[in-house]
Amino acid sequence: MFDFKYYTPTKVIFGKNTENRVAELIKEFGGTKVLIHYGGGSVVRSGLLKRVTDKLDEAGIPYVTLGGAVPNPHLGLVYEGIELCKKEGVDFLLGVGGGSAIDSAKAIGYGLANDGDVWDFYDYKRTAEGCLPLGVILTIAATGSEMSDSSVITKEEGLVKRGYSSDFGRPRFAILNPELTMTLPDYQTACGCTDIMMHTMERYFTNGGNMEITDSVAEGLLRTVKANALILRDDPKNYDARAEVMWAGSLSHNGLTGCGNDGGDWMTHKLEHELGGLYDVAHGAGLAAIWGSWARYVYKDCLPRFKRFALNVMGVKNEGSDEEIALAGIEAMEDFYRSINMPTNLRELGVNPTEEELALMAHKCAVGVGGEKGSAKVLNEEAMLAIYRASM
Ligand code: NZQ
Ligand code: ZN
Repeated sequence: MFDFKYYTPTKVIFGKNTENRVAELIKEFGGTKVLIHYGGGSVVRSGLLKRVTDKLDEAGIPYVTLGGAVPNPHLGLVYEGIELCKKEGVDFLLGVGGGSAIDSAKAIGYGLANDGDVWDFYDYKRTAEGCLPLGVILTIAATGSEMSDSSVITKEEGLVKRGYSSDFGRPRFAILNPELTMTLPDYQTACGCTDIMMHTMERYFTNGGNMEITDSVAEGLLRTVKANALILRDDPKNYDARAEVMWAGSLSHNGLTGCGNDGGDWMTHKLEHELGGLYDVAHGAGLAAIWGSWARYVYKDCLPRFKRFALNVMGVKNEGSDEEIALAGIEAMEDFYRSINMPTNLRELGVNPTEEELALMAHKCAVGVGGEKGSAKVLNEEAMLAIYRASM
């Protein structure tokens, strides 16, 4: 077990109709002029945006709105948001939507609280010294951005998708109403469940510092999301299943399932981010398409963890060699992906990169991680390319 920091300052308000408390929460955290930032329009169509603006009107809190954050959100809109907030004197950001709207709001917050080009943070050139305070109303359980320190932005020029992590970016409050996720297309629900599981799996497949309590929380979370993803596949309006998945999404990426270990592996995410940047695929689906190839490439170097995962999460029988059990666990995970209509290779994901494009992704990925990265197994550019090839 390693020493660790656990810092989750986000006030969570969970349950039905909790979005009605938005004005009270903005006031509590000192907001006097708000930017409401959202995505492509689902919050307009669902009526959520209107309910939120009505609450702010009632409370006498002035606001401006900026929609348009796309999945794999763009830097251009971040710049636009920064300028709008400066012009309007905004002192509080409200992200309404999924990870893309929230991450875009975080980036706007960094741009407002720091001088210079906000992309510098995502380009690892310097670190932020603050972020405008941010609150969140979540409409899709997936990224955990509502409690996480991360923001992932795509720079249009060169299609470079990069994440930046800082405690300054953790939202002040997160309103989590599982009912708000009931308008999601089934595909996005499944993508979300995949991403949630992966945030814990990235922390679970490590070679350093694991502790029993963290493993137990992680395995419980993984079993819970797996079971409830299947319930939602057949019964998308099931409130309790929506609630289980939503809370799991926040816990999966707020640091809890990594306490005491070496920080995690994260290479499936890094490999997916190149796919998302280049082909604009849904993040969760991209993860599912890559994971099996990654797992088969690394499992021998992390065998005890893969065996434990097979037995405790996937319910594989404790029969045969450790390698056989580990491989059966990987196979069972891919069966699960298929059962919720997630892809298990790039073809099923709907992309067909050329050899040059695979090499380009591997190169960008290696540059993005500073050469090599991983805990289950350290991967260099050659290994990344081998995994991309195997996922074809
Ligand atoms: O844009 P709108 O119109 O809102 O539609 C969205 C979008 O098309 C739709 N949607 C969301 N809530 C809905 C809804 N449609 C109907 N009803 C609702 N209630 O779903 C689509 C996906 O939304 P998006 O916000 O893109 O999804 P997600 O939350 O999965 O976010 C993905 C982004 O977050 C990044 C990903 O890389 C990707 O860019 N990540 C952020 C992380 C973080 N900040 O901690 C960690 C993750 O690993 C991830 O990398
Ligand atoms: Zn993710």
